[in-house]
Amino acid sequence: MEYGPIPSSRFDDVINHLRKSFPDEPLNASVGLSLHNQPCPLLEKYDLLTLHEGLSVMALDTETGEIAGVALNGISRRGDIEQSLENMKTIDSVPYHRIFGLLNGVNKELDLFTAYNVDKIFDLRILSVDSKYRGKGLAKELFSRSEIIAEEHGFKLMKVDATSLFTQKICEAFGLKVIKTVRYGDYKDENGKKIYPTESPHDYYKVMVKQLPSRKDND
Ligand code: ACO
Repeated sequence: MEYGPIPSSRFDDVINHLRKSFPDEPLNASVGLSLHNQPCPLLEKYDLLTLHEGLSVMALDTETGEIAGVALNGISRRGDIEQSLENMKTIDSVPYHRIFGLLNGVNKELDLFTAYNVDKIFDLRILSVDSKYRGKGLAKELFSRSEIIAEEHGFKLMKVDATSLFTQKICEAFGLKVIKTVRYGDYKDENGKKIYPTESPHDYYKVMVKQLPSRKDND
């Protein structure tokens, strides 16, 4: 396995990898926003914007050249959440509103920029490993390399919206702290039906952060 930055020539391959793998993400799986091997333009637009920020990492199977996993890392800035909430008004998709209504709502309330006195946050947005390579430590390695990139770029804060128990375990192993816990089962519609019927053991969404030692004074 080889790890490294993602050149623009591989962006299409990353999108194809995500079409295969990311529908397994607990929140997506519960509301059916992205479906296996099908395009999801609403998500892919943002995946590509994140890829263009140049902070993402891939794991490459050196025998086949196949992308085995990715960590898509982006920069969150003050005002981004408000902008995203504004953009949501033009999007007519219940699953999209369910996922991003929750994530944006929680992050708006936390206001990490004020809480940690930063103007930008290293946001590990997507951690994804192809099912045939799972359970071999790839996600941990992608996470470790992402943290190094964050430090090298002088970020003072790293944040993960950890929607899966497995990601929460990885974050914990790397010293991230839980600053918000949301129980999926607490959200029900007017008929008492669960809005996020996630599969066990993914019962919680946790916002996890780590303050990083600054190497550059660019914040
Ligand atoms: N059962 C129990 N624990 C597991 C499992 C499993 N099937 N898979 C991973 N874990 C836990 C373990 O604690 C493991 O650490 P340990 O071996 O030290 O105990 C830890 O997760 C990391 O294991 P890795 O092998 O590094 O993880 P993997 O390469 O399998 O990738 C991932 C994990 C990315 C979550 C993968 O399952 C996946 O792509 N799932 C679908 C997409 C998804 O849910 N992504 C995360 C959403 S949150 C976000 O993106 C920010």
